[in-house]
Amino acid sequence: MFRLVQTEISLDRTATTPLQRQIAQAIKHRVLSGALKSGEALPSTRALATELRVSRNTVIAAYDQLIGEGYLDAHHRSRICVSESFACQQGSGQHVAEVRRFPIPSTPPLLSCPIPFRPCQPDVRLFPLATWNRMRTRALKRFGASLLDYQSQAAVLGLPSLREALAQYLRDSRGVRCQWHQVAITSGSQQALALLAQVLLAKANGRVLIEDPGYKGAQEAFRRAGARIKPLPVDDQGLVVPAKPIFADFVYTTPARQFPTGASMPLARRLALIEFAHRSKAMIVEDDYDSEFRYLHPPLPSLHSLDPHGIVINVGSMSKLLFPSLRIGYVVLPESLVEDFACARSAMDDHGPLIDQATLEEFIATGAFFTHVRRCRREYAVRLEALLEGVHRSKLPVSLPYADGGMNIAALLLPESDLSEDRLVHWLADRGFEAPGLSSYCLALRAKPGVLLGFAAFEPETIETLTRRLNGLHVPSGTTGKHLKRPPRKDDR
Ligand SMILES: Cc1ncc(COP(=O)(O)O)c(C=O)c1O
Repeated sequence: MFRLVQTEISLDRTATTPLQRQIAQAIKHRVLSGALKSGEALPSTRALATELRVSRNTVIAAYDQLIGEGYLDAHHRSRICVSESFACQQGSGQHVAEVRRFPIPSTPPLLSCPIPFRPCQPDVRLFPLATWNRMRTRALKRFGASLLDYQSQAAVLGLPSLREALAQYLRDSRGVRCQWHQVAITSGSQQALALLAQVLLAKANGRVLIEDPGYKGAQEAFRRAGARIKPLPVDDQGLVVPAKPIFADFVYTTPARQFPTGASMPLARRLALIEFAHRSKAMIVEDDYDSEFRYLHPPLPSLHSLDPHGIVINVGSMSKLLFPSLRIGYVVLPESLVEDFACARSAMDDHGPLIDQATLEEFIATGAFFTHVRRCRREYAVRLEALLEGVHRSKLPVSLPYADGGMNIAALLLPESDLSEDRLVHWLADRGFEAPGLSSYCLALRAKPGVLLGFAAFEPETIETLTRRLNGLHVPSGTTGKHLKRPPRKDDR
């Protein structure tokens, strides 16, 4: 056992795990648990190597790995500190976003089904599988064996005809002004975010501004690419735009429906955000993950459509519109990034699977895509009503201020309620619901206490039955069931 800045590392020299990895894991664990504080200096490689009785190269390799993963910053060769991105996350005393873990199961796991009310689950049973299969057959006939070959040159950024179809769809539905060759197909929007981080981070330790609370998939992709993450607060109009420029490589935002709060960004703030990013010499990554699902109004135009400077990159996904295991996302790139992005994509997996891309192209061309999206919009609107009703009936001490779209609803604890977020999460878990606390999406800042409820994957009758389980939470009198009516929209369009 050895001392490492107020904490300890124990190395198991008999284990098969290399010492370098053991050191990296021990430091990572201490950073995540807060035992090593943001900005705290680590011992020099020489000192730690002596202390642990390992070679200096072993410690250098462990530090390099942690710098690459964004846990540590190397200010000078001699001074290595815990990354700034862990700033207020540590010591805020609140529950913070956990890095996702993938423990090795003892037996092969079964595929999972939707869990009430886990967020971000579409209802895949609505998907017209028979039509999809017909489109697949047609696509295979049309393209023939060429769909089966390596297509590294022609299709590194996706099947060209699908890129054309998506460019048309984005022009019509989201006001995105782009040529087909600016549209790149990725494996879900997750791969788009990971590749964008690689391409946009000007140097190791480049800075990214992100919404806090925000989407964990983005936080993780940027951190893994070595970004220094600066969290920006969120209010009831989405990302709060800083008054002064902040130099950064890019800003990540979900303006159509802030994830997880659900607030949509009004026009004035959208314009302010674009000007802020322009002055900060930063690009904007606009994650348009579920903007099609607005039930009271037509979808808001994208941030991309308002951008006079060519700095907004629009990212979207078929995961919610069609089905998540399709793993088809897209990104609309500025001309100047197309080639770099193609190189990064090619290094990752040459190109994506083409049979599904050709099927999707047929699905769009025949109009089946639009029929399906309209059907989901209608169904989900009814399901949202059922959830609002159920929560209202249950008299849970929550408000639902952003109940006009999406697939999830943030239920905010009423200020006068004496219930803690933690208690609500556990109370729901005891009744079989997986509704994460909003603070679990926080990096550094505080979210209003509440939970995120996903409603899209269940029929209205099921939602009604499920929400009956919500009755009976003891709360002080006078705090129940208020504010459940839809508030008037604040957007200025
Ligand atoms: C904010 C946000 N962006 C993107 C996605 C979609 O990711 P993918 O296209 O990789 O399935 C999700 C899914 O839940 C999300 O919540």
